[in-house]
Amino acid sequence: MENGIKTFEPNGLLQSRELYQYLLNTSVYPREAEILKELRYASSKHPLAYYGTTPDSGQLLRLLMKLVNAKQTIEVGVFTGYSLLLTALTLPEDGKVIGIDIDRKAYEIGLPSIKKAAVEHKIEFIESPALPILDKLLEDPTNEGSFDFAFVDADKSNSKNYHERLLKLVKVGGIILYDNTLWGGTVILKDSSEVYPEPRRPDWHHSIEFNKAITADHRVDISQVPLGDGMTICMRIR
Ligand SMILES: C[S@@+](CC[C@H](N)C(=O)[O-])C[C@H]1O[C@@H](n2cnc3c(N)ncnc32)[C@H](O)[C@@H]1O
Repeated sequence: MENGIKTFEPNGLLQSRELYQYLLNTSVYPREAEILKELRYASSKHPLAYYGTTPDSGQLLRLLMKLVNAKQTIEVGVFTGYSLLLTALTLPEDGKVIGIDIDRKAYEIGLPSIKKAAVEHKIEFIESPALPILDKLLEDPTNEGSFDFAFVDADKSNSKNYHERLLKLVKVGGIILYDNTLWGGTVILKDSSEVYPEPRRPDWHHSIEFNKAITADHRVDISQVPLGDGMTICMRIR
C-alpha cells in the first residue's frame, strides 16, 4: 500500500518485508517520477502485474544508464512499459530505446503514460519475438557495438541466446542488465515444486543455468544484486 493506492509489492529478497518496505519508502518512492507511479498503478490491475519491473530495480537501471551516458538502448521484454518509460525518461532528448515484446496489448496499457510524459519519440516498440529482431539488427554491421545499454526481462529460456546477440550489439564498456536472476529467492531450492506463483516453475531452472553461464563468461564483468527479483549487471569488457 502506498499513498492509499494498492499496488503489487512482492516481499523482495531482503531479510524481511519490513526492510524491503523501508528501502522503498526511504530511497525509492520519494524519487520515483509521478508518471511512473501512474503507470505502475495502471499495471497493478493486470492479472500478471507481478511481471512489472519493481521500482527499486528501476532506480538501479536509471543510475546505470546515467553512469554510461546511455543514448542508444535495447529492451527485451516490455510488458506494460514501466522500465521502457523509465528508460525513455532517462535518455537524453536525442536518445532512443528499441523495446521488443510479443504482447502489444500489455504495452498499450502503459502507452497513455508514455504519451503523457511526451517521450514517445524516443521509443521504437517492436511487436515480435525478440531473437529474430536482435538477429536482424546484427545483419547490419554498423549496429555492432552501437548500443550503450540493454535491459533483458523476457523469456528466461532465451537468456543465453539474448546474451550472445547483445554482446555483439552493446559496445565494450556498455552494460547489459538482466532481471529476475534470483527468481524470487528460489534459486537455492533443490527443485521447482515450491516456486510461487506456479506459472514461474517452468523457468526456474533457466535462471539457475543462466547464473552459472554468466559467471563463467569472461567477456563481461558482473555483479548480482538482490534488488527486486535479483538483477545481474554485466559490463562488456572485450
Ligand atoms: C517480466 S515481463 C517484462 C516487464 C517489463 N520490463 C516492465 O518493466 O514491466 C516479460 C515480458 O516478456 C515478454 N516476452 C516473453 N517472451 C518473449 C519473447 N520471446 N520475445 C519478446 N518478448 C517476450 C512477455 O510478453 C512479457 O511482456
